[in-house]
Amino acid sequence: MRTPATALDAARDLLYPAQLRTSASTAHGYLDVFAPSEDDSAPDRPTIAAAAMNTHALATVYERAWRPFAFSLATGLTTATERRNAVTDLRLRGEQRVLDVACGPGNFTRYLSDVLTGAGLAVGFDLSEPMLRRAVADNSGARVAYVRGDAGRLPFADETFDAVCCFGALYLMPDPFAAIDEMTRVLAPGGRIAVMTSYPGGPGVVRPAVVAAGNLVGVRMFDRDCLPQRFTDAGLVEVEQRIRRVVQYVNATKA
Ligand SMILES: C[S@@+](CC[C@H](N)C(=O)[O-])C[C@H]1O[C@@H](n2cnc3c(N)ncnc32)[C@H](O)[C@@H]1O
Repeated sequence: MRTPATALDAARDLLYPAQLRTSASTAHGYLDVFAPSEDDSAPDRPTIAAAAMNTHALATVYERAWRPFAFSLATGLTTATERRNAVTDLRLRGEQRVLDVACGPGNFTRYLSDVLTGAGLAVGFDLSEPMLRRAVADNSGARVAYVRGDAGRLPFADETFDAVCCFGALYLMPDPFAAIDEMTRVLAPGGRIAVMTSYPGGPGVVRPAVVAAGNLVGVRMFDRDCLPQRFTDAGLVEVEQRIRRVVQYVNATKA
C-alpha cells in the first residue's frame, strides 16, 4: 500500500465511504465532507452558543483568550493540565490514530499529535468553517489533519481509531447521543474514549442559576449518571468520571 505523503493524505485515506476520498474539497486546507442530511432540510434555529461557534470573532479569540478564561473558571484547571489529562485518559502513544471530535481551532488536536510518532495521526473534526480555518492556520503539524463534517455522522469506517475524544462540545449539539454512538462506532476494540462536558454543579444556591444560564444560551446539562450509564449501556468498560465544578470528564475503554 502507498505511504501517504502528508497528514491530509493520511486522513483522506480514512474517509468512508470511499467516494468521499475523491469528492472531499480541500480548498481551505482541511477535508470538507459536510453535506446536510435530509433531516436538516428545515433545521432548527441554532442556539446562541452554537451560533457563536460559527463566527470568525470567536474562532479568532477562542484558543488564547476565551478558552483559558472560561474553562479555568468552569473547571479550576489550566489548559496545560487539561491537555496532559487528555493524553493520560486516552493512553495516547506511538503510532496511534486519534480523532478529536468538535476540535474547534485545533487547540487539543495539535497537542495530542505531539505525543505521536511514525505513522501516528491526530484528526481534528468540526462543523464550523471559521474554527477549522483557524485550526489550519494555528495548529497544523506533521501528524495533524482536519476534517469538516457533523459529529452525528462521522465519515469513517467502524473501528478506525485507537482513541476518540470530544471536549467542550456535547452540550452544544442537538443530539449529543448520536455523536457518542458514532464515536463508539469508529473506536477500535481496546481503544479509549474521553469526553468533557457540562455538569450542573457548584454550591447549592448557585446551581439553579447555572442551569438557567445554560438554558438561556443553549448549553445542555448532563447529570452525574447520564454519561457513565450511556457508556456502560454501549458495552464500554473501565468507565471513570471526574467532576470539577460545572464540568465532568468521563473516559472508558471499548471492550
Ligand atoms: C467550545 S468548542 C470546543 C473546542 C475544543 N474541543 C475545546 O475543548 O476547547 C466547540 C466546538 O464544537 C463544534 N461543534 C458543535 N456541534 C458540532 C457537530 N454537530 N459536529 C461537529 N462539531 C460540532 C463547534 O463548531 C465548536 O468548534
